[in-house]
Amino acid sequence: MKIIGTGSALPSLSVSNDMLAAFLDTSDEWISTRTGVKHRRILSTETLFDLATQAVEQALEQAKLTASDIDYIICSNLVNIYATPSFSSILQGRIGAANCPCLDINTACTGFVYALDIADAFLKAGKVKNALIVCAEEPSRIVDWTERDASILFGDGAAAAIVVPGDDLRAVYLSTTSNIDSLYYQRKLEFNPFVKRKEYGKPLVMNGREIFRLAVLNSISDINRVLDTAGVQKSDVKFYVLHQANMRIIEAIRQNLGEPEEKFPHNLEHYGNTASASLPILLDELNKSNQLQKGDILVLSSFGAGFATGACVLHWSGN
Ligand code: COA
Repeated sequence: MKIIGTGSALPSLSVSNDMLAAFLDTSDEWISTRTGVKHRRILSTETLFDLATQAVEQALEQAKLTASDIDYIICSNLVNIYATPSFSSILQGRIGAANCPCLDINTACTGFVYALDIADAFLKAGKVKNALIVCAEEPSRIVDWTERDASILFGDGAAAAIVVPGDDLRAVYLSTTSNIDSLYYQRKLEFNPFVKRKEYGKPLVMNGREIFRLAVLNSISDINRVLDTAGVQKSDVKFYVLHQANMRIIEAIRQNLGEPEEKFPHNLEHYGNTASASLPILLDELNKSNQLQKGDILVLSSFGAGFATGACVLHWSGN
């Protein structure tokens, strides 16, 4: 596969650390030094479908395609107001795509790398010509805004990519190790007269230190593994495009790899952790600001609830 168009969209409301400190026992100093996050965008008047639609329109424009050219839609999403129908089927109608298959995936923050791998398989099999990948996330609707531990980390956003047949995905590694306790959100299901056990919904529960440790360890080994598989030297890598969870996580990975800071672009200071949208939003920013040239080698690496990880080596042949 190769990516021929990207797009991204963020909510208009920007929430600063000071705005959070007005109702949480926290401070700009604590959040900035422990996470690197300064602002996050939070959905208020718009919906997640609005953001996803904007991101898709940009990606289609860059790819010089129209919605009717799309023959498969893959959406990565943790949660949205509809448990059913799928996010992708709702988005299909919003963007005016024709009667194509629509598939939702939930591999938490690793969704973009998983989706690239799925699209690549469909394209290689000759089943699909123009796949649309969308990562759209509103973690602001699963965190507990009365607690400071997880709410300060996240923001909302959406990104899209159009992928067509090509040879740009040079190596992929995906992993999942069932680990529920470290990071989970439990929604409350409807009343059922036959279920007697007590059930409560739970806002996002996170063991921050454990996730930090797993993120750093796994990202480092995943990155080394995909570089090895692709036969690529670190010196050949233009950018490491990492999941934007915490600047200290990115820095720990960078130091272990022994690579310079300029190879690790970041935007988490503006947007916080936008779950699976974070990586493709950053990729779109690099693309739109002409920082990606034909022939560049990129390493993508992400991690999230599951505990799931996904990394790949991407050759950039551009649009
Ligand atoms: N504001 C102020 N103080 C806070 C705080 C906040 N938002 N959150 C926690 N604290 C306090 C703690 O209560 C603790 O206080 P104590 O020393 O008096 O007990 C202290 O700060 C240190 O807490 P700790 O949890 O050890 O901090 P940390 O350095 O591990 O940073 C995270 C916490 C969450 C920022 C960090 O662990 C992290 O980013 N983990 C990864 C999370 C992640 O990426 N999740 C998404 C994965 S997709």
